Amino acid sequence: MPLKKKATLLITNIGQLITMNGPVPRLGDSMNDLGLINGGAVAVAGEEILAVGESEAVEGKVDLAEGCIAIDAGGGVVTPGFIDSHTHPVFSRTRENEFEMRIMGKSYMDIANAGGGIRASVRDLRETSKAELTKKTTTRLHTMLSYGTTTIEAKSGYGLSTESEIKSLEIINNLNETQPIDLIPTFLGAHEVPDEFREKRKDYIDLLINEMIPKVAEEKLAEFCDIFCEKDVFNIEESRKIMKAAQKHGLKLKFHADELGASDGSELAAELGAVSADHLVHISDNGIKAMAEAGTVAVLLPGTCFSLGLKDYAPARKMIESGIVVALSTDCNPGSSYSESLPMIISLAGLNYKLTAAESISAVTVNAACAIDRGGKIGMLTTGLIADIVLWKINDYRELPYHYGVNSVHKVIKGGKIVIG
Ligand code: NIG
Ligand code: FE
Repeated sequence: MPLKKKATLLITNIGQLITMNGPVPRLGDSMNDLGLINGGAVAVAGEEILAVGESEAVEGKVDLAEGCIAIDAGGGVVTPGFIDSHTHPVFSRTRENEFEMRIMGKSYMDIANAGGGIRASVRDLRETSKAELTKKTTTRLHTMLSYGTTTIEAKSGYGLSTESEIKSLEIINNLNETQPIDLIPTFLGAHEVPDEFREKRKDYIDLLINEMIPKVAEEKLAEFCDIFCEKDVFNIEESRKIMKAAQKHGLKLKFHADELGASDGSELAAELGAVSADHLVHISDNGIKAMAEAGTVAVLLPGTCFSLGLKDYAPARKMIESGIVVALSTDCNPGSSYSESLPMIISLAGLNYKLTAAESISAVTVNAACAIDRGGKIGMLTTGLIADIVLWKINDYRELPYHYGVNSVHKVIKGGKIVIG
């Protein structure tokens, strides 16, 4: 019996069809389960996936709509669109000067404490028009798309005033309408204490709690609230206060935790029922236990350690063995990790976390969806879900980490439409 809906797009001759169908989230050993079909096909009707499976089965039950687009995958790999669950894409100038200063021996915090770092990007964003910021962000999103990313979490955090944070969040929300990638907005007003509040940080925290968070929530500009919980930025007590206020206003929580040193941020994230805690390079055993019990997703960002030239990487294997949901992301930002490429992150996760290619693919699809509270809704090629699909120029998915620093994307399909290739 043919299916009622007709296919508007049909992909055949797929050597390795990575559906990711299976448990949500992928925990422990199940991270190696890709829901792999050798010799598969995918049919799409409009924006949705119509059928997925072995070629004969799919082709046998699908009728083609008039004008149906047929794509021969040439025996290559096909995956769900990747999900980048931690990005800071709205900024103006890049900071290559700081990258060079670090190569010459300065640390990230030396540069930040001297007025560079996040505060430099804040001064710069405040002076940049909305149109110019939108243009720059659109270019970054296009690069992400060309590397196989179809959904991102996008943070504000370079405005640090009510006006400039709202400007950043409006840009993120508007971009949802003007280009293919889906953006999930996060308010990161607690990214740093801006210049004008350095001598009165308590006043900035009051502004966050009494003005910025209520306004962002009321105007529905963000779904999540994030914080840079770190010694010298927001300490644990300040973080608890700010994040409780965000929660009271209906925002879901994410944390930058234990990034440059141990901050106990992972314990606090678990205590408050945060959706994710991210970075976690210096997470304690207690933090690991607390996150596993709370089901808080660990978003690991190996590009940050790589680009900061750090020796320590988050204990990914220990987290996986402890039952934590592990996702991977770029942390794309102008300071600590300037890259739009999730395939590059997969290479870094292989070498530094000892993750298999399959584990990393789980971490940028099914588990990344959990990191943005969309587990089972995106990141899988399942009948009825949105047709976000990547065709790769490779025949074995293990080439993804192995062939590093190049773009192996062949085509990207977003919501049933070919947007790259
Ligand atoms: O995730 N840790 C805080 N935020 C970014 C860095 C931002 C910047 O340096 O501009 C991060 O590493
Ligand atoms: Fe970050």
